[in-house]
Amino acid sequence: MGAAHTGSFGSRQSGLMVKDTVFSAWSSQKVGRAAWESGGPAWGSQKWSKYASSLWKKAAIPGPRGLPFIGSMDLMVGLAHHKIAAMAVACQAKRLMALSLGETRVIVTCNPDVAKEMLNSSDFADRPVKESAYSLMFNRAIGFAPYGVYWRTLRRIAATHLFCPKQIKGSEAQRFEIASQMVEMMMSRGGGGGENEVRVRDLLKLASLNNMMCSVFGRKYRVQDKSEWTDELRKLVDEGYQLLGIFNWSDHLPWLADFDLQKVRFRCSQLVPKVNLYVSRIIDEHKAARQRSDYERDFVDVLLNLQEPDKLSDSDMLAVLWEMIFRGTDTVAVLVEWILARMVLHPDVQTRVQMELDQLTGRSRALTESDLAETTYLPAVVKEVLRLHPPGPLLSWARLAITDTTVDGYHVPRGTTAMVNMWAITRDPHVWTDPLQFNPDRFLLKPGPGEEGGNMEFSVFGSDLRLAPFGSGRRTCPGKTLGLTTVTFWVASLLHEFEFGAAGVGPDLTEVLGLSCEMAQPLTVRVRPRRLA
Ligand code: HEM
Repeated sequence: MGAAHTGSFGSRQSGLMVKDTVFSAWSSQKVGRAAWESGGPAWGSQKWSKYASSLWKKAAIPGPRGLPFIGSMDLMVGLAHHKIAAMAVACQAKRLMALSLGETRVIVTCNPDVAKEMLNSSDFADRPVKESAYSLMFNRAIGFAPYGVYWRTLRRIAATHLFCPKQIKGSEAQRFEIASQMVEMMMSRGGGGGENEVRVRDLLKLASLNNMMCSVFGRKYRVQDKSEWTDELRKLVDEGYQLLGIFNWSDHLPWLADFDLQKVRFRCSQLVPKVNLYVSRIIDEHKAARQRSDYERDFVDVLLNLQEPDKLSDSDMLAVLWEMIFRGTDTVAVLVEWILARMVLHPDVQTRVQMELDQLTGRSRALTESDLAETTYLPAVVKEVLRLHPPGPLLSWARLAITDTTVDGYHVPRGTTAMVNMWAITRDPHVWTDPLQFNPDRFLLKPGPGEEGGNMEFSVFGSDLRLAPFGSGRRTCPGKTLGLTTVTFWVASLLHEFEFGAAGVGPDLTEVLGLSCEMAQPLTVRVRPRRLA
């Protein structure tokens, strides 16, 4: 993969060098100890660097000191968004908190205004690249490509050929077909007119994968048919998702890198050749089929047809295609699972959505996407679930300061990692009234006479950082409209066709955080057909 593999991660230090580094890190921390009251060791050593004079003059950003060497790495283990939120309260640093993850300087905000300042600033247009992202080629795809001409070109190509309104409309039939297949599968598991238990996660992930395979690779499979191709891709995506979701200690403690203690490097090295083989076969097939006139064009063809200067090398193309499949699959499935869980927990809300859908279409035919244009309650429900269960509570992928800058009046040096705790913002009582209450009606509120605001027209696409589950600014999620359209239509179709009830004790909302925040216990529901009953 040429450039994809030329990161600093490839370098190997000798055992002696490791000892030297540990010793010098230790001694520099001893020297700097008095200096790192706030933010921990990575900020302490900063005091002795070239930024020293400016830092001394300004107040330090509040934050935990953490432990020598590792700083506050413990915060990132398990449910990091909960721990960071609690620490920000303890340090009185909800607006801006400094912490150290080993040698990495980090700032985190739990405040919508500061989040806006950070995400919309061109100073945070880069991402810190993890070893797994390098190894899995993502530094050549949109998500981790450094800010610059290459990244801009990729975003433009993706925006024009995959995410523009015409393309999204063009894939409507495909989403409809996949929704019908999901309904068929649930129906057969539900025994026709009867009632039965369905574990929805596997079904949703398969549906979502098939959807992306069709948009990106032009391959159509039925959700209910076993296909070797789909199975294989599912395994590759699962493994990639797990690897990117792991908090890898050696990303922050470079002197540990040689040991690959969490086996991240090893697993990436096993995965990459498989991904290469899989995607290369698809690219080759497309190259061969381009001569045929009956041939349907897809995203692979778009990339193959690019002319200089936009033309991508085969390895870059592979990285971009792999990322699209990878990013578009689980995010959608995770969100639909959270929404269905909430529908089971709040049957009154479920009934209201169903009544809204029935009023628009009746029950004699299946829903189509155009039926949803008139809905108001359904979008409010989706927003309320996004508020309480953002799939990326820390906005999945952090940002990196490409220059020295200022945030909320504090000096932030170049190379600092910046995170937004969206989960903490959406649960903050100063930001949302009764934030822990599941209340979709809050998104139906109109502004009172003479008042500003009201949430009726609330956009979740990044203009208002009180709820921005797709991020904001230059690196906002390019797949947000496609993602939300798919989620909304599939939820509507499933609720139109079935009544969802609890199986056993009912949904357990405990979370597990990997690359996305999923339900720790996969959701199992009872479905009862309602449209044909
Ligand atoms: C419910 C669905 C989704 C959610 C919640 C979601 C969320 C996010 C978030 C929070 C970010 C980081 C934004 C930032 O830094 O400001 C992101 C980036 C990204 N997302 Fe999504 N996403 C979803 C669906 C999709 C889909 C369907 C695709 C593509 C098929 C996609 C592709 C990407 C890419 C390529 C990036 C990196 C953008 C860049 O760095 O320039 N996402 N997404």
